[in-house]
Amino acid sequence: MAHASNDLVVSLAANPLRQLSLEQLRERTSMKWRTYPADVLPLWVAEMDVPLADPVARAVHAAVDRGDTGYPAGTAYAEAFADFAARRWGWDGLAVERSAIVPDVMLGIVEMLKLVSGPGDPVVINCPVYPPFYQFVRSDRRPVVEAPLSTAGRIDFAALAAAYQDAAGRGGLPVHLLCSPHNPTGTVHTADELSEVARLARRYGVRVVVDEIHAPIVADGTRFVPYLSVPGGANGLSLMSASKAWNLAGLKAAIAVAGPAAADDLARLPEEVSHGPSHLGIVAHTAALRDGGAWLDALLTGLDENRRLLAGLLHDHLPSVRYRPGAATYLGWLDCRELGLGDDPAAAFLKHGRIALSHGADFGPGGEGFVRLNLGTSPEILTEAVRRMASAV
Ligand SMILES: Cc1ncc(COP(=O)(O)O)c(C=O)c1O
Repeated sequence: MAHASNDLVVSLAANPLRQLSLEQLRERTSMKWRTYPADVLPLWVAEMDVPLADPVARAVHAAVDRGDTGYPAGTAYAEAFADFAARRWGWDGLAVERSAIVPDVMLGIVEMLKLVSGPGDPVVINCPVYPPFYQFVRSDRRPVVEAPLSTAGRIDFAALAAAYQDAAGRGGLPVHLLCSPHNPTGTVHTADELSEVARLARRYGVRVVVDEIHAPIVADGTRFVPYLSVPGGANGLSLMSASKAWNLAGLKAAIAVAGPAAADDLARLPEEVSHGPSHLGIVAHTAALRDGGAWLDALLTGLDENRRLLAGLLHDHLPSVRYRPGAATYLGWLDCRELGLGDDPAAAFLKHGRIALSHGADFGPGGEGFVRLNLGTSPEILTEAVRRMASAV
């Protein structure tokens, strides 16, 4: 009986993407809502237009009520992630003793690169990819070696082998910074693909650091495979966080997880790194992973609806824009090359349609003529977004 009523609650969880009006959202003070003037509709940076999941809001409120705003302690975040990984992905390899808290995913990546390579050592990335991969790697004075994705948005193994060879030939300790699932295409790498990455990495002496921040946001029917779980993945280092799936970027926290053969590397993480994450962030992320499952399921259903809605709207209003809905993330990667708006269609959409999208060229080679649209919003806003885009051409 209790089980049946639980199921009922789960199936009735409200779609978080339908809870907030544009007026309410415009009161927000975060980057998404304050970078552009108020007449611009912002669908660029990866913040979602959702209220906090109830269990997360309750946990944060309770901590504030207790005045519990000190330094983080313990391993609750990693434990919650280990349980989540076992439940959602059938993976029991997230070992708490091989994890560490880090301030956020990007700073965690920088720390992992320092653990397995030296200053100036090359980093392989699969472009087009999340722009900070370039910025954070280069600001650490490391050369970027590009292994472009195939036109289908999947890892191109000939290109990857060539990039590994190039990187290995430069001397030093090469690293592959892998995005899994991939931002901006929403590609979910398969177990076979990840095993092939591991096989090639071993062959060319490349270490793999994997950004799995979008892992909880994978559509029903598609399997997310943790890189550390595939054959050969044991010397990988992964960054995970609840921040994208539950919209917690302002509540800083993430974890680094080492495969068994990378445990000694992670053990060398300087202690000061663990001072970066916020205690309230860890409280929020832990509550999300433990108790935010029904909310996440409702979100995933809403995102599926939005992917279908976006495909239909583009078909009706901008038929020459090509959109292949990905199975992961809440980002749409739109090929606008046939619109005749040049290499930077986002600039034209902003100027003539008053809509802010991410510039495809910022994602590296292969991004020219594309825009990234954040579909983590309401169907009404998504509809208005395509109307504005169409008005710009
Ligand atoms: C692939 C990827 N990695 C990292 C981040 C940023 O994560 P954090 O805020 O934890 O650094 C994002 C944000 O959108 C992302 O898409």
